[in-house]
Amino acid sequence: MEVIIKASYDEISKEAGRMVRKALLKKPNLVLGLATGSTPIGLYNELVCMHKEEGLDFSQVVTFNLDEYVGIPASHPESYHTFMERHLFSKVNVPTSNTHIPQNTTRNLEKFCEWYEQQIREVGGIDLQILGIGVNGHIGFNEPSSSLGSRTRIKTLAPSTLKVHTRDFGGDLDTVPKMAITMGVGTIMEAKQCLLLASGKSKAQAIARCVEGPITAEVPASALQMHPKAVILIDEEAASQLKRIDYYKWGYENKLRLEADSL
Ligand code: F6R
Repeated sequence: MEVIIKASYDEISKEAGRMVRKALLKKPNLVLGLATGSTPIGLYNELVCMHKEEGLDFSQVVTFNLDEYVGIPASHPESYHTFMERHLFSKVNVPTSNTHIPQNTTRNLEKFCEWYEQQIREVGGIDLQILGIGVNGHIGFNEPSSSLGSRTRIKTLAPSTLKVHTRDFGGDLDTVPKMAITMGVGTIMEAKQCLLLASGKSKAQAIARCVEGPITAEVPASALQMHPKAVILIDEEAASQLKRIDYYKWGYENKLRLEADSL
């Protein structure tokens, strides 16, 4: 697990943008796992800028979103379909046929989840999975107590998640969807690389439990401790409850020095 601490949200967004660009230049048909929520918006803005200003090409990229609410149509202003269209898909040249978001209106949800997993397998798996983290330690909508081996399925949202999400539904808890389709922790762990982003004090405890706590289904993000290539890219506030901040910073400085020397 590599922990990279940057000064601010802008800095993590820029660094995440650089990482995605590097992966995309290395593999133009990159299979990219995507997250929604407030955290990756800065990253998506960076990618849109790189596309417009440098011609970063998304024409061969294939995307899979982590999750989608059940019970609202894809056209709903707060659906993750609408989110992705608004922040990324309508602004870069990724073909719509290459994008995948769980279908919240499908009749047979169980079959759909199997199909989604199969689509991921058929393109050879996810190369780089972008993740946010919930204040309760969830990744995707794998709420505390989710099996660390879980696959794409329906989950009921935890009360703490519902509370946070009321911000997107005009402050009205009753209108927040209570269920979602989400990739499982096991699905996420099969991505070749994971990049988890977090910003702000409200994420500090979840980050400390994810990085330095025990690996437990109580904190689904802690499964990333077992991932061979997981990067935790956070700002100072999100890092504020970590015990080994100095070591992570020192490790990152040494890595940069090594990279500069080998140029
Ligand atoms: C969304 C997702 C969630 C969010 C998490 C953090 O696709 O997978 O796990 O990443 O709830 O959300 P924000 O970034 O809004 O704090």
